Amino acid sequence: MLAMNYRGPFRVRAAQKPIPEILHPNDAIVRVTRSCICGSDLHLYHGLVPDTRVGMTFGHEFIGVVDEIGPSVQNLKVGDNVIVPFNVACGKCAFCKQGLFGNCHESNPEATAVGGIFGYSHTAGGYDGGQAEFVRVPYADVGPTIIPDWMDHDDAVLLTDVVPTGYQAAEMGGIKQGDTVVVFGAGPVGILAAKCAWLFGAGRVIVIDHLEYRLDFVRKYAQCEAYNFRSMKDPVLFIKQTTDWFGADVCIDAVGGDASGSPLQTITGKKLLLQAGSATALHWAINSVKKGGIVSIVGVYGPTDNLVPIGNVVNKGITIRANQASVKRLLPRLIDHIQAGRLNPKEIITHRVPLEEVADAYHIFSAKLDNCIKPILIPPSARK
Ligand SMILES: NC(=O)c1ccc[n+]([C@@H]2O[C@H](COP(=O)([O-])OP(=O)(O)OC[C@H]3O[C@@H](n4cnc5c(N)ncnc54)[C@H](O)[C@@H]3O)[C@@H](O)[C@H]2O)c1
Ligand SMILES: [Zn+2]
Ligand SMILES: [Zn+2]
Repeated sequence: MLAMNYRGPFRVRAAQKPIPEILHPNDAIVRVTRSCICGSDLHLYHGLVPDTRVGMTFGHEFIGVVDEIGPSVQNLKVGDNVIVPFNVACGKCAFCKQGLFGNCHESNPEATAVGGIFGYSHTAGGYDGGQAEFVRVPYADVGPTIIPDWMDHDDAVLLTDVVPTGYQAAEMGGIKQGDTVVVFGAGPVGILAAKCAWLFGAGRVIVIDHLEYRLDFVRKYAQCEAYNFRSMKDPVLFIKQTTDWFGADVCIDAVGGDASGSPLQTITGKKLLLQAGSATALHWAINSVKKGGIVSIVGVYGPTDNLVPIGNVVNKGITIRANQASVKRLLPRLIDHIQAGRLNPKEIITHRVPLEEVADAYHIFSAKLDNCIKPILIPPSARK
């Protein structure tokens, strides 16, 4: 089969690999019909995630058709069209039982760090991902969810990650009626977080980024204010000024460790790797939230040390909430929002690329070329 193949930082290609096989009675093999490239894949692509092995196939956002099931699988049958959440989750451990599917204790040998994630290095379990024609899906009775007949498959594929992540970012912000919410990052996750902030009752939503085309997009898509941090002296000062010097009620970090905007953070975190990525957006979020406010982090950071203004967290009495999204927990609610027309995720898809051209797709998305917001990959077997 054809699959994306990691060769080292900034080097990926489409290559032939054996079709995966059932290894456990509760596995399924899914024939992929669409997969996405995510901002999280860029951390892998840029070489920022430890133990990313050459030969691995990335891809934690995919949908497809069930091709084969193990003997103990009860909830799926061959031919079902399924949304596969990005979390690999057992459904039975203490964390899964609380709905914390992103924190499963069974699916990753490095369980104290993170749960299992498809296509996300050996720090997240070493599972091959779905930027391929076929993928092995463990715990097949837990994650995969049947795509409703009425649902457009372009919407379905975005339910594997960015929609639940944007929604959970807003949910973790504890937004109250009328709150001012600032979202750092106008990538797919930040765009969805801004859109979802309104569902929780926000009174004002402000997005900060430095890519004009994304700011233009989010202004229209999420009916919010959007500003370029390159055109302001200091984004923290700007947010204080625009909130009567109180600061925002809620700040959402939808950027993570690949942030731009601070030469010191970029050099220490992205060039010299003295810290686990650049925490620029997190600094701005902590420093521009009001005293007693909430900072919600969905941007991904490396598991070790970061230069973070923890003193300001203490002195301002800030609540920090952060997690990988727990996709399965949120799916029923999000499917309702899509059916009712309150969420229209597929509008963020800008590029539809054959899997054979995966290297170009990574380059375009990473370098933010051609007004790219969300690229999806279509395997050859899904185009026949
Ligand atoms: N927690 C989760 O479950 C989860 C799930 C999916 C993605 N993520 C993470 O969310 C983050 C965003 O993902 P994405 O797909 O939208 O990525 P993306 O790379 O497309 O978007 C990131 C955006 O942040 C902007 N940016 C860079 N520095 C900034 C700064 N200092 N302030 C404001 N904006 C800045 C970039 O210009 C870009 O538009 C990534 O870190 C990704 O790993 C987390
Ligand atoms: Zn993702
Ligand atoms: Zn579990």
